[in-house]
Amino acid sequence: MKITKKLLLTSLIPLTILAIGGLFSIFIVKKTQDSIMRSIAQINEKQTLISDIYNELGYGNGIHAFKNYVLRGQDVYKKNAASHLIKANQMIDKYFTFKNLSLDEKQALEILRNTVTAYISKIDIINQKITEGKIATEIDKLVKIDDAPAVSAQGVLQKYLLTEKSAELKKIDDLNHSVFFYIISIYLISLIIALFISQKISSKLIQSINRLIRFSSDISKGFWTEKNNSPIVVSDDEFQTLADQMFNMKKDLLLIFERLKQTNQDLEQFSFMSAHDLKTPLKNLLSYTELINDSIDQKDCDALETFTQEVRNEAEKMMDYISDLLSFTRLGAESLNIDDVDVKAVIREITSTFNHSTKEIELIALGVPDFIRADRLKFTRILQNLLENSIKYSNDHVRIEITGKTLDSGGWLFTVEDNGKGIRERDFEKIFLPFRRATDQGEGTGIGLAIVKKIIEIHGGKIWLESKENTFTKFHFSIGVYKNILPDEKEVNNATSPQHSA
Ligand SMILES: Nc1ncnc2c1ncn2[C@@H]1O[C@H](COP(=O)(O)OP(=O)(O)OP(=O)(O)O)[C@@H](O)[C@H]1O
Ligand SMILES: [Mg+2]
Repeated sequence: MKITKKLLLTSLIPLTILAIGGLFSIFIVKKTQDSIMRSIAQINEKQTLISDIYNELGYGNGIHAFKNYVLRGQDVYKKNAASHLIKANQMIDKYFTFKNLSLDEKQALEILRNTVTAYISKIDIINQKITEGKIATEIDKLVKIDDAPAVSAQGVLQKYLLTEKSAELKKIDDLNHSVFFYIISIYLISLIIALFISQKISSKLIQSINRLIRFSSDISKGFWTEKNNSPIVVSDDEFQTLADQMFNMKKDLLLIFERLKQTNQDLEQFSFMSAHDLKTPLKNLLSYTELINDSIDQKDCDALETFTQEVRNEAEKMMDYISDLLSFTRLGAESLNIDDVDVKAVIREITSTFNHSTKEIELIALGVPDFIRADRLKFTRILQNLLENSIKYSNDHVRIEITGKTLDSGGWLFTVEDNGKGIRERDFEKIFLPFRRATDQGEGTGIGLAIVKKIIEIHGGKIWLESKENTFTKFHFSIGVYKNILPDEKEVNNATSPQHSA
């Protein structure tokens, strides 16, 4: 996961939790508040109902009209009493319709209903007694009802409702406290989660950074020369890309370092040999100048001429040597001009120069690839040197066979085989060094194979040989691998089973 995504998650996850928690607590608070408000509204309704019942029964209404009817016997009081008492009864029934009535409420309502029903039932008795001509005090005695339980029931109801109401109001108060508690808890939980996530993510990031720091400091201290280092695995984000790039950089550095080491060794050996090899013609020059001096003293013109000629010869040798040296050293500095090279055309171009040879030359090119990717001039130089050697170091009838194939691991593999004098195994290494020869036969400074080897190496390839004295010599070389990768040696070796590689 990308670092930016990780950082975004670190802030987004706690924020989302905080938002969800906030919404959830608002929902809970709202729900509780609604239920409390509904309870309070119901209590208010009940209170109104109780006071209405009280009103229907009280002064000027219900029981008051009932008493007046007993005292005065007028129909108007009867009607008044009946209508108010029935209304009161209806209100009591309405109260009963409320859900979840408490036992106290039910008992108090039953008492009220019994009393009101008792009054209603007595109205007809009053009417009957008045018709019978009974006096008011007698009727009153007959229909007397004890109001005390109803009065106390009403008191109980009112008190009960007041207690309920204050309990609900207290709930609102408690709710305000819980809201505060909820918000603080959600905030703390989100904070803990945020800390946990950011700690996890940052510890992973820090781990990756520390590994990269260790890795880069190893490189800076030069530990990158250890070959068996495997790629570092840090995390699945941009750090891994950085780690991979650093690892590749390290691999490249290692390769360059190895090459530099080799080049350094070559240079040391080369400068030592050059100095050593230049000494011989110089010594000869010195000897000849002394001989020239002697000839002048002795006025020997013939000797003078001979030694002067020798001085010229030695100087020419030195010139050849120095120009070969220059051409060899320049090779390392020249850049490769990689192109599609028509191999058969190159072979044709080289063989056209063999027309002047006194030897009978038979050249066979077998299965060579049509095109390869290489520096054309330098590739020509490789084949030219190898073919010239085959001709130079052979009898009058030379048979040369060139074969080639494309390697699966990239690049190409060539073999140049001849039926010439062959090379002793002890000279296999030596002949690739500059100015080293295995024989005095034929002219040459001994730079040809050193140049061939160098060109092959700068093309990322290798050269090696097989040979048997007076029978054959086979030079194998790979070429065409430019990305700091050596060709798969197994493949090359399987293809040729070399005796020796340079
Ligand atoms: N095909 C071959 N058969 C036998 N000997 C060989 C063959 N090729 C090279 N040699 C030996 O390897 C030596 C080095 O060869 P190299 O081409 O480097 O130098 P050279 O041919 O002597 O001189 P130059 O190539 O500089 O003119 C030769 O002197 C010769 O002894
Ligand atoms: Mg040669």
